[in-house]
Amino acid sequence: MPERIIIFDTTLRDGEQSPGCSMNLEEKLRMARQLDALGVDVVEAGFPMASEDDFRAVHAVAREVRRPVIAALARTTRDDIERAWRAIESAARPRLHTFVATSDLHIQHKLRRTRDEVLDMAVEAVRLARSLTGDVEFSAEDATRSDLDFLCRVVAAAVEAGATTINIPDTVGYTVPSEFARIIRVLQERVPGIRNAVLSVHCHNDLGLAVANSVAAVEAGARQVECTVNGIGERAGNASLEEIVMSFYVRRDILPYSTSVATTEIYKASQLLSSITGMHVQANKAVVGKNAFAHEAGIHQDGVLKERRTYEIMTPESVGIKTNRLVLGKHSGRHALGKKLADLGYPLPRPDLDRAYARFIEIADQKKEIFDEDLIAIVHDGMRDVPETFRLKMLQATAGSQKPSTATVILETEGREKVACAVGDGPVAAAYTAIDQITGFRGRLLDYSIRAVSRGRDAIGEVSVHVDFDGRTFTGKAASTDVVDASARAYLHAVNKGSRLARTLDAAETASALPRAAAAGMAADRARAEIQAAPAKETQPGREDAVGGPMRVVDSEGLIRLIHLV
Ligand code: KIV
Ligand code: ZN
Repeated sequence: MPERIIIFDTTLRDGEQSPGCSMNLEEKLRMARQLDALGVDVVEAGFPMASEDDFRAVHAVAREVRRPVIAALARTTRDDIERAWRAIESAARPRLHTFVATSDLHIQHKLRRTRDEVLDMAVEAVRLARSLTGDVEFSAEDATRSDLDFLCRVVAAAVEAGATTINIPDTVGYTVPSEFARIIRVLQERVPGIRNAVLSVHCHNDLGLAVANSVAAVEAGARQVECTVNGIGERAGNASLEEIVMSFYVRRDILPYSTSVATTEIYKASQLLSSITGMHVQANKAVVGKNAFAHEAGIHQDGVLKERRTYEIMTPESVGIKTNRLVLGKHSGRHALGKKLADLGYPLPRPDLDRAYARFIEIADQKKEIFDEDLIAIVHDGMRDVPETFRLKMLQATAGSQKPSTATVILETEGREKVACAVGDGPVAAAYTAIDQITGFRGRLLDYSIRAVSRGRDAIGEVSVHVDFDGRTFTGKAASTDVVDASARAYLHAVNKGSRLARTLDAAETASALPRAAAAGMAADRARAEIQAAPAKETQPGREDAVGGPMRVVDSEGLIRLIHLV
């Protein structure tokens, strides 16, 4: 009988800490629901002391996601622990996770404490946490660079104080499988009472060994593994959930361990995370990368055609990748789309299906063949997690070897349409400037990426952006067969997140984060100045310009409408 390994998912905490992966409350909730569907045992929802946003997100996950254990991270201070507890106390199965560093490097340089003080901090934190809940995890940060005798002392004291899970992190991804296995064995041999707690491991991937180290630790006796979807996390990331789970599944002949993970939900979790964070999965990523099941070399293709197992150690279906690829076309109805999406693992409620269908028809008009990847992109594109304060009504851009490029943008906001024109090095830059003019936000583009979600010249392009609005980073994503359109809508997605946050912040913070009135005024001036100067007028078919006042445009249905210039 295989032994059960507890899968502790920290995508929403350690994963979220990685650059460009921060998630807002709705995004965390969406991901948490998928982690629930995936079947992980523990969802670490965040670090409530880190920010008010994080507190609210952890709280929301704790209230809504009822099956898995919901963990919250806290340092060893009373404030941290009590705040973490307030965030998760309404969970069906809450866990407090407290940690302190045990390596001399961290103790001396980061904490500026002594070993004995650290030991006391660990004990007091665990005792306090145990006074609040019966499920307490203690982590010895930087355990693999800690003096092993001291590590054993701290772990023994934490168990004695009531920790029910002891986690041994390889915080900086420094260890190797043989060494890590030895640490795990020594702890079991030397720490009295360790069998009263679950022994856990948490490996970072700085040397690319996170999964190998985790598997070695399990073979040495660890019974909980901490990991993240797509391996996201600090620096080079954490051990990847899908690689660990599939290692146990594929090599069950020599790794007699089972997990509660529904492997067929893996791909969906991977796609959802990448859609939320805008961090694309590298093509050669094990298990979930685009090429993970692609066979290029003739010899390989020949082998796979004759017998799949020649070059495939697991099937795409086993991780939820559907291979029935060619699907719907422009004559397919809403019902067929709904059924196909449900088959792909996206059963949509009626309003979402209506939105997806409208987008599907638009895309089917431009694209002959619609593949599964296209449909998934359409679904994610339609998952608008923020109200569309600004909605793209029209975008016209010019591009080419003649510089500058120009863009005219019409946005709908608060029931009115506003137009701006701008120039830029390319059509995307021009469109972004025009959008800034209307919204009054000045976004600094930190990251921009684009990828074709399927094949062919008419493939859908999926754009992800990370945009800084006055010190805060927002991600945006959109998909379209027109990459400038996708770029503009991805940017607006980020703008709408910023705009929503601005509305919920208190007045003082709003004033400093987003000087909207002033910015809007300045933007209006800029817009007018640019329109007066811009040669773009000639490139706007059907438009009658009236700089400085409402302007008449001929819309797509041939109606003349008044547009207000910002
Ligand atoms: O890497 C680490 O040490 C951690 C702990 C807080 C568990 O993330
Ligand atoms: Zn970590």
